[in-house]
Amino acid sequence: MIGAVRGVLLRGFELIERPFDRLFGPSLNPLAQLGALGFFFFWIVAVSGIYLFIFFDTGIERAYESVEHLTYAYWFHAGVMRSLHRYASDLMVVMVAAHLLREFAYDHYRGVRWFSWLTGLPIIWLLYACGITGYWLVWDKLARYVAITTSELLDYLPIFGEPIARNFISGGTLTSRFFTLMVFMHVAVPLFLLFIMWVHIIRISRPRVNPPRMLAALSLIALVGVSMWKPALSQGHVDLATAPVEIGLDWFYLPLYPLTDLWGKGAVWAFLGTFSIMIGLMPWLPPLRRARAAAVDLAHCNGCARCVDDCPYEAIRMVRRSDGLPFPTEAAVNPALCVSCGICVGACPSSTPFRRTHDLKTGIDLPDYSLADLRERTIAAAQALPGPTRVLVFACEHGGGAAYPGRVPLPCVAMAPPSLIDYVLSKKLADGVVVAGCAERACFNRLGIVLTEQRFAQQRDPYLRTRVPRDRVTTVWTSILEFGRFKKEFGRFAAKIAAFPPVQATPSPPPKKLLEIAARREPDLVENRDGPL
Ligand code: HEM
Ligand code: SF4
Ligand code: SF4
Repeated sequence: MIGAVRGVLLRGFELIERPFDRLFGPSLNPLAQLGALGFFFFWIVAVSGIYLFIFFDTGIERAYESVEHLTYAYWFHAGVMRSLHRYASDLMVVMVAAHLLREFAYDHYRGVRWFSWLTGLPIIWLLYACGITGYWLVWDKLARYVAITTSELLDYLPIFGEPIARNFISGGTLTSRFFTLMVFMHVAVPLFLLFIMWVHIIRISRPRVNPPRMLAALSLIALVGVSMWKPALSQGHVDLATAPVEIGLDWFYLPLYPLTDLWGKGAVWAFLGTFSIMIGLMPWLPPLRRARAAAVDLAHCNGCARCVDDCPYEAIRMVRRSDGLPFPTEAAVNPALCVSCGICVGACPSSTPFRRTHDLKTGIDLPDYSLADLRERTIAAAQALPGPTRVLVFACEHGGGAAYPGRVPLPCVAMAPPSLIDYVLSKKLADGVVVAGCAERACFNRLGIVLTEQRFAQQRDPYLRTRVPRDRVTTVWTSILEFGRFKKEFGRFAAKIAAFPPVQATPSPPPKKLLEIAARREPDLVENRDGPL
């Protein structure tokens, strides 16, 4: 059931993201930058909030007038700041909702990712606490409505000894003590929110907390434009004598307030409780079946720390050497953080398939899919390729190439060390190599595509050696739903390779042992021997 919902959502996101890709390019696609945009909007809210505080009178008697004054007398700076403050806050809600749905759609919330998911829950609560206390401060008709409804909602819970509504809203007015408390909360809660936002990403290596400059500039220009066009205004001074007849609501922050009258307070709390419990349980519904964590083989680890640099999940640390070899440090994996993506295997300088030993060893390896297995599968898949043009596909299991029958499957494209491609071409195992991963904007393992591109461009160790003929290697970045596009790109590349002189005229028949290996793990690999796509 959850899988079906995820599938529908994924299709929905793809439908929106692909045109954005064409319009902005994958790196500027706002849907691929939702977390970073969340941080960006937070900073806009923070800076504009500090600016507004210069003009704001924190006493209940003068609060409304001070907001009106800054809105009209200083509209060109403080007024614009007020609008920026409100609209950037609204955009944070939009961003959080879209980010939550997208992480869910791309299955980025189970396994070790439970941590980021679960710390997202307090972010939602804190964000709403910020918004609600903010509306309170204007002390207009909407503020009164928010104050009364919030107090009544809180009074429903058996937390406070005495009802807050009666205590603080005596005789129809809010005591200035309570108003001051709200002012304090509107400063303290965002600070706490920022702290939780930091906690949210501590298990992620190199998190994108800043959107690309162009995207940031475009978002800011759009926000300023809307702020000038439709400035944020108050809704009239609180008239304590009469109940407000009609008030405009901010539907981003206050959608549940009208429901309090409609459903009753109990139902609203039940809804919020069920939502929070659901979100809290989701990473384990159902739990992800995890492969065993990467393991370090000290005899082959020289302590270079490349695996630490490349691991996207902060799962490896360098620790003091424990085996007496003449290196100061060694790599140590924290199994609780490892998703078995194999990126560290691709990063390790010891991962070279050229070693003659049958029992190929490296500094860090996946117990369930070792470098030795990968080399064997590569040879088997190459031997099974039909001629005359033999194109070998290394495909990440999360991308468009995952459905290609003759592929060498990978948990992430960056698991394949560049030397493996060198090995395939220099040993003349194939005429061309396709490295196929997820769509560029949505790498399942966050950094797999970037690291692969950098290694191929010789910007990062271990890099693809100069002797590897570049025109015989290509990368295809397509989503799991784009097998058609993968086939097209594969076909185009295969046609190009067909025009080159073959590196080996007649492919030798596959040795029986290698075919057995291929058949054991991936029956399709063998079945597809007879024909291309
Ligand atoms: C102000 C609100 C939020 C901000 C600013 C924010 C920001 C971020 C950032 C910057 C990342 C790292 C993205 C990357 O570099 O790949 C991230 C990851 C993540 N966020 Fe949020 N987030 C927010 C709210 C939430 C919420 C409400 C949820 C869900 C309940 C959530 C779930 C996740 C998950 C599961 C990841 C991990 C993705 C992965 O491991 O690839 N976030 N967030
Ligand atoms: S397999 Fe992936 S998550 Fe695990 S240690 Fe290696 S790079 Fe990190
Ligand atoms: S990349 Fe390999 S050699 Fe370098 S620290 Fe990691 S395991 Fe050791």
